[in-house]
Amino acid sequence: MSKTAILELDGKKYEFPVYVGTENEVAIDIEKLRGATGAITIDPGYKNTGSCNSEITFLDGEEGILRYRGYSIEELADKSNFLEVSYLLVFGQLPTAKQLEQFENDIRKYTLVNEEMKTILEGFPKTAHPMGVLSSLTSALTAFNPKPVNVDNEKELYDAVCKTMGKFMVIATWTYRRRMGYPLNYYDNTKGYVENFMRLMFEIPTEPYKMDNKVVAALDKLFILHADHEQNCSTSTVRIVGSSHAGLFASISAGVSALWGPLHGGANQAVLEMLQEIHDNGGDVDKYVLKAKDKEDPFRLMGFGHRVYKNFDPRATIIKKAADDVLTAMGVDDPLLDIAKKLEKVALEDEYFKARSLYPNVDFYSGIIYRAMGIPVEMYTVLFAIGRLPGWIAQWKEMRLNKEPIGRPRQVYMGENLRAFVPVEKR
Ligand code: SDX
Repeated sequence: MSKTAILELDGKKYEFPVYVGTENEVAIDIEKLRGATGAITIDPGYKNTGSCNSEITFLDGEEGILRYRGYSIEELADKSNFLEVSYLLVFGQLPTAKQLEQFENDIRKYTLVNEEMKTILEGFPKTAHPMGVLSSLTSALTAFNPKPVNVDNEKELYDAVCKTMGKFMVIATWTYRRRMGYPLNYYDNTKGYVENFMRLMFEIPTEPYKMDNKVVAALDKLFILHADHEQNCSTSTVRIVGSSHAGLFASISAGVSALWGPLHGGANQAVLEMLQEIHDNGGDVDKYVLKAKDKEDPFRLMGFGHRVYKNFDPRATIIKKAADDVLTAMGVDDPLLDIAKKLEKVALEDEYFKARSLYPNVDFYSGIIYRAMGIPVEMYTVLFAIGRLPGWIAQWKEMRLNKEPIGRPRQVYMGENLRAFVPVEKR
């Protein structure tokens, strides 16, 4: 690979350094481009633009590869657990048994949320979308933890990681409890992290809560699959907000808002709503595939396509199998799963989708499992956020420890040139 790239502009040649990542990604370093040439690049949606060097997650969209800190998603989903993967993402290595136990115990130090947070929660109408409530409550945590994290103090940073992991899931489940008019539950430090999610969500004071270990195992796997995905929209948001040295809670809150969008994490809710609409309209998937292909129709096949994967999203493959396993184990026969499989088959045989490399993504099947677990559709993206939390933390930590500059893109101005003010009486 050549060490430089040559750009010719106005008859002048400019050289820019080229470097190669550990998985052979080639980057042209244009840090000095504007100073040398007076020109900038433009790249809507940053489809060709790298924002950072990162050691956390590797994706190969052509090969359908996803690895966290070098470990394949298939192995981690099959052999690890969510807290162990969270430790791996944030600290870079798989923990020893002792380190993992310590991490879980240190998270437990922070699972009690300040009671005054309930006043903020109660300020929301019961109909408020849980993602909007979660983003607000996450930002509100700053009010109870006002001291900015000194990222150069290893213990302070470690404690901030544990505090975020401890409190975020609790307030996330509160969004559901508020919506249902249920009393708010407390984390039980004698139980596991994912078990606590199920209890926090569904345990009611009038009867003992029966934990379904199959559901806990499936949810643990789903959280692993959602844990990180390099520089996606919400993670890039967390990094750019954090680059101004805004706090960790404020940065995560911004990430929650970005994830909410239906083109991003909000797609898992949109997929279920789409499948339900197809089902309610007689199950005619061909009609919806035609709508998705019609440029005049804004309808898109939710859960299909991906900015990076131009092959199967490896997570979708794992979740599709998990959906089959969970529904079989629970004895659930969900017509929406049948519609999803039929839709996938029709789309994958259709030239429009093949020509654009549109395959099912992580959101296409996850909602089917959540639905079988009795999780309400408006909570699906909240579950995505709970899974993505360690990835957001890991990426924020890496950006701060690498002392990256504040994110501030340039633009190409296409507006009016200088013009004189006209007094209102003359307009
Ligand atoms: C996530 O980035 C990440 O890593 C995200 C994520 C993560 O873990 O963080 O993986 C999670 O967000 C997954 C994606 C969930 N979103 C959806 O399922 C929403 C539906 N998908 C699309 O909106 C779309 O595919 C995107 C947003 C995911 C990607 O869009 P791109 O990369 O900007 O592609 P594009 O919009 O330029 O589309 C390219 C072509 C266009 O057609 P042409 O103009 O070339 O004729 O493909 C078409 C699009 O119209 N197209 C679709 C389509 N997705 C793209 N047509 C119909 N249905 C779709 N779903």
